[in-house]
Amino acid sequence: MSLVRLIYVSKITNQFAMSSLEDILQVARKNNEKNNITGMLCFNRNFFLQSIEGTRDSVNATYNKILNDERHHNAIILEYSEISARDFADWSMGYVPSSSLTAPLNLQFSGTTEFDPYSLSGQSAYQFLLKLKGTLPNI
Ligand SMILES: Cc1cc2nc3c(=O)[nH]c(=O)nc-3n(C[C@H](O)[C@H](O)[C@H](O)COP(=O)(O)O)c2cc1C
Repeated sequence: MSLVRLIYVSKITNQFAMSSLEDILQVARKNNEKNNITGMLCFNRNFFLQSIEGTRDSVNATYNKILNDERHHNAIILEYSEISARDFADWSMGYVPSSSLTAPLNLQFSGTTEFDPYSLSGQSAYQFLLKLKGTLPNI
């Protein structure tokens, strides 16, 4: 079955506590490994920007679960495409902390130095994530 990539942005709710982040990553990595989903998650205290890639069925099913999670809301899909190969094959869910979301990087891909992923086009979000891939440890 063909591969797809989905990139979305969302905002934390008050159900989210910093401790949730570790829980999210732990569950995401366990499930994603089982479902052959790979990707990256960026977080900056307010917003999430996430890319998930895998077969269409597994990406859609995973996104449906993510959408129903009350720790975030206002999810908007920035990009959904068929792809010929994975970009994040080494990561069941690579994590990019806010310290990597630097002002020059934000300025390169958006109108401001702030990390505001809602203002990114699908293409910018994708290029932004590819650039951040270089900062990730291989886990
Ligand atoms: C920002 C965010 C990103 C998430 N990413 C993933 C993910 O990549 N894979 C996943 O299985 N669950 C992810 N989750 C967790 C799901 O929303 C859900 O809690 C989990 O899939 C439930 O797993 P279970 O069916 O094994 O209980 C994410 C949640 C949030 C808030």
